[in-house]
Amino acid sequence: MVDIPFFKKFTLPSFSFDLGRHSPSFLGVDIGGYSVKVVQLRKEKERAVLETYGELKTGGYLKRTSGAAGSNFLRFLEADVTEMLSDILKESNVTTHQAVFSIPPISSFITVVDFPRLSPGEIQTAIPYEAKKYIPIPLSEVLLDWEVIDEGDKERVKILLVAVPKEVISKYKRIAQLSKLELRALEIENFSLVRSLVGPSRNVVAIINFGAYTTTVCVVDQGTLRLNHNIERGFHEITRTMVKALNISEERAEEFKKTVGLSEKPEEKEVVDVILGSLDALMRETERIVNVYNRANMRKVEQVILTGGGTNLFGLVDYAAKTFGLETIRANPFARLVYPAFLQPILHEIGPSFSTAVGLALREITSK
Ligand SMILES: Nc1ncnc2c1ncn2[C@@H]1O[C@H](COP(=O)(O)OP(=O)(O)OP(=O)(O)O)[C@@H](O)[C@H]1O
Ligand SMILES: [Mg+2]
Repeated sequence: MVDIPFFKKFTLPSFSFDLGRHSPSFLGVDIGGYSVKVVQLRKEKERAVLETYGELKTGGYLKRTSGAAGSNFLRFLEADVTEMLSDILKESNVTTHQAVFSIPPISSFITVVDFPRLSPGEIQTAIPYEAKKYIPIPLSEVLLDWEVIDEGDKERVKILLVAVPKEVISKYKRIAQLSKLELRALEIENFSLVRSLVGPSRNVVAIINFGAYTTTVCVVDQGTLRLNHNIERGFHEITRTMVKALNISEERAEEFKKTVGLSEKPEEKEVVDVILGSLDALMRETERIVNVYNRANMRKVEQVILTGGGTNLFGLVDYAAKTFGLETIRANPFARLVYPAFLQPILHEIGPSFSTAVGLALREITSK
């Protein structure tokens, strides 16, 4: 049985632990709409050593029926995904078969619900009735789990409710099998992000994941997920807008995102205005979600971590810092890993794209 974090009832049998003589290595696999990312880590004296990593654009492999379908993993053909994985494993010189895959938040349900303070047994009985209100598909078709995340007050507690459609799980299992990988666990992406970017920090932190087709906002307090919100829009929309408005190729638009972005140079204003025209509404939506959290909670968000490939849009971090009026940093998931010093500049540059894959591989190495 595959272990799904926060689905603690579904744990691995102990025989699947590595019995080899050498230190075990683990692979994090993050299949996104824009690219697939892999990271291989080795456990060495309680530290995580970076062994290899790689990224491959999905464009040539995953043919979608429509742009909007990018966020729906179920639409991708298993044969296409397998071919893509086979290529990236080869190109990145991956040597381990022990893999953890991410489940995109868009293919899962995560919600925090207010609950009367009952005994654990009573909560267990009441949860399915409560879950029905939040989960739009029949409960018989999902794996459901929950965790009390807040002591709350005398009367009420807060419960983190998580569900993943069985269909999604089966699909990942089949893909892993076809790719000759041993699936050690599946993890909803946001939990991987918390592991690689926040760790045991006691602060209240907002993580904003700017993907190609999805943007996710989550708030973490003392290492625990308190809020999760998915927006079904991402940075591919900016590319598309640029292609149309500036009459340029997609490649050129991608290049402009890196080199021009939110530049303040007057001669680049035309491009910047197009980007801002598309970005602004998305930024305002993320800000609104953080404000909703702040209004409902005593402990307010103190720091914003930007992750996902979109973070690399030139000037985005400063722009986000102004929007939020809070300390805003670029994700660096490699910070807590051991790696050769010469890799530092490149890892800093690619960090935001690899936060999920690092978190997935770390899952098998750290206890948190
Ligand atoms: N160096 C870069 N400079 C500017 N933009 C970039 C850079 N690298 C990636 N992006 C943008 O980031 C987006 C892809 O982000 P990411 O790799 O996080 O998406 P994904 O995980 O594949 O997609 P999703 O999570 O939505 O399924 C694309 O829109 C791409 O244009
Ligand atoms: Mg992603």
